[in-house]
Amino acid sequence: MIKKICIIGAGFAGLTAARVFKALDYDITLYEKEADVGGVWSASRRYPGLTTQNTRTTYELSDYPMPSSYPEWPSGEQVQRYMQSYVDHYDFSQDVHLSCEVTNTSFDEGSNTWTVDVIKTKTDGSHESLSKQFDYLIIGNGIFSVPSIPTYKGVESFIENGGRICHTSEFTRREDARDKNVLVIGYGKSSCDVANAIHEISNSTTVVARNLIWKIPKMIANKLNYKHLFLSRMSEALFRYIHLRGMDKFFHTVGNPIRKSMLSIVEFIVERQLGLRRLGLHPNKPLETIARSTVSLVSDDFYQNIEAGKIGIKKKVVIEELRGREAILSNGETVPADIIVCGTGWHQVCPFLPDDIMSKVTDQNGNFRLYRSMIPVDVPRLAFNGYNSSFFSQLNCEIGSLWLADHINDGFKLPSTFLQNKDVDERLEWMENRTDGKHSKGTNIIPFSIHHIDELLEDMDMNVGRLTRFKQWLGALHPKVYANILPTLQKKHTKG
Ligand SMILES: Cc1cc2nc3c(=O)[nH]c(=O)nc-3n(C[C@H](O)[C@H](O)[C@H](O)COP(=O)(O)OP(=O)(O)OC[C@H]3O[C@@H](n4cnc5c(N)ncnc54)[C@H](O)[C@@H]3O)c2cc1C
Ligand SMILES: NC(=O)c1ccc[n+]([C@@H]2O[C@H](COP(=O)([O-])OP(=O)(O)OC[C@H]3O[C@@H](n4cnc5c(N)ncnc54)[C@H](OP(=O)(O)O)[C@@H]3O)[C@@H](O)[C@H]2O)c1
Repeated sequence: MIKKICIIGAGFAGLTAARVFKALDYDITLYEKEADVGGVWSASRRYPGLTTQNTRTTYELSDYPMPSSYPEWPSGEQVQRYMQSYVDHYDFSQDVHLSCEVTNTSFDEGSNTWTVDVIKTKTDGSHESLSKQFDYLIIGNGIFSVPSIPTYKGVESFIENGGRICHTSEFTRREDARDKNVLVIGYGKSSCDVANAIHEISNSTTVVARNLIWKIPKMIANKLNYKHLFLSRMSEALFRYIHLRGMDKFFHTVGNPIRKSMLSIVEFIVERQLGLRRLGLHPNKPLETIARSTVSLVSDDFYQNIEAGKIGIKKKVVIEELRGREAILSNGETVPADIIVCGTGWHQVCPFLPDDIMSKVTDQNGNFRLYRSMIPVDVPRLAFNGYNSSFFSQLNCEIGSLWLADHINDGFKLPSTFLQNKDVDERLEWMENRTDGKHSKGTNIIPFSIHHIDELLEDMDMNVGRLTRFKQWLGALHPKVYANILPTLQKKHTKG
């Protein structure tokens, strides 16, 4: 019988799992290595100027609204406070163990128990080792949690000469950029945000982008909130999902010309609004390519800052070498560099899982083989949450937690191992083809958040009704429509 559950991580994945399983009377223990809850929104990882991409009401949890005093795009600090208040409101802070890093895990097949080893950092800086047994392990360690920084030739001499190289998630103090020449590597949301946040106080800020991608303005044509166009069922249907049904089928067969026209109109508006051709920053690929492993809103005034010369940009180049306090680019140019901030993405890894388990969880390319993005097919008593990142990542985490709770309580049966493996194989192949390999090791389902939620809720036979789905076609999805699922589960699975 499953009673004691260990959860790794206090981001949305871990916290929603804790909330749901606690409400179903499980004995939960959550370990978080940082000193606060929040994950990507933690004070330890927030770069200056970080806000949500989602609007406030599309980035809240179904049964816990964000304060209405928050702005349309809440700051990172506000999201972190919201997450702490969720823990307090649902009264599980005693189950959340901060400054506790899970360093190792092992599974005993005889007793069906996980042993979890933890190193706790105490307030005086000393460490304590703990080891505990659990019936089930939920990993919510974040797919954007372990920074990836390129290895540059000459980096040792750059550091010896007083240079600093770090990831955007490690660049938490704006003042560090004062009077410095800063190179920001990458053209994703993290990089462009950091460049925006520091250009006023740095000596120079230069973005080094090896590829250009499409970015969406918060207000399309300076009038329409992007949420109406990009956070609805209609917007997901513009992109081809693995299985076509309903209106999706129409859009990708006879309705294809309508779909293409809709995308072309948005592309036309965005291109002109941002002045991409004039700035020489047109990605030269269709807007349809936006929905791959990442999606970026335009950081406020980013293109105006480039046009005004406040932010420099070196496009389609990489750093070849660092020499003293200079970077040599692949086009032969030399640029001064005191700080190099890398918004160069993340590693999707679980260093605390033993090799024999990791070899069942991932394929030879490191892709996670998870049924419904949650269950490793051949490993008992283990689930992943947050490995379904997309446009409403917090809601995907929450619905994932509810699905897992229903599954563990035998609320529905998973298909056979053969069929689960087949489904996983098909999805990985589809992801690989549609994203040119950019799917964060199989953990990123952009832009198909709502499709994924539908699949999970249909397994549970608890999807929202036709009228709600119709409304979600025409406008932005609001998580609160899913607030009745947990009470329904509580009725279904009251534990003695
Ligand atoms: C800067 C940034 C902004 C984003 N903005 C949005 C947005 O606006 N909208 C959206 O939908 N998505 C957004 N995302 C995607 C984002 O990843 C999710 O929204 C979500 O917050 C992720 O939650 P998570 O719990 O899965 O992971 P995380 O928030 O990364 O949480 C994982 C937690 O696990 C902890 N952990 C890891 N390893 C261990 C260990 N060994 N022991 C103990 N603890 C451990 C980490 O410290 C961390 O606190 C953003 C991502 C980034 C990087
Ligand atoms: N709420 C927010 O405002 C917010 C803020 C930050 C991030 N996010 C989300 O978090 C996720 C991750 O975003 P991110 O910006 O951190 O990472 P990202 O989207 O993965 O972007 C990484 C960038 O670094 C480049 N890059 C990677 N390796 C490189 C190398 N070796 N040399 C040079 N360039 C390299 C990539 O170029 P290529 O394109 O060529 O690979 C890309 O431009 C996304 O889903 C994003 O939407 C949200």
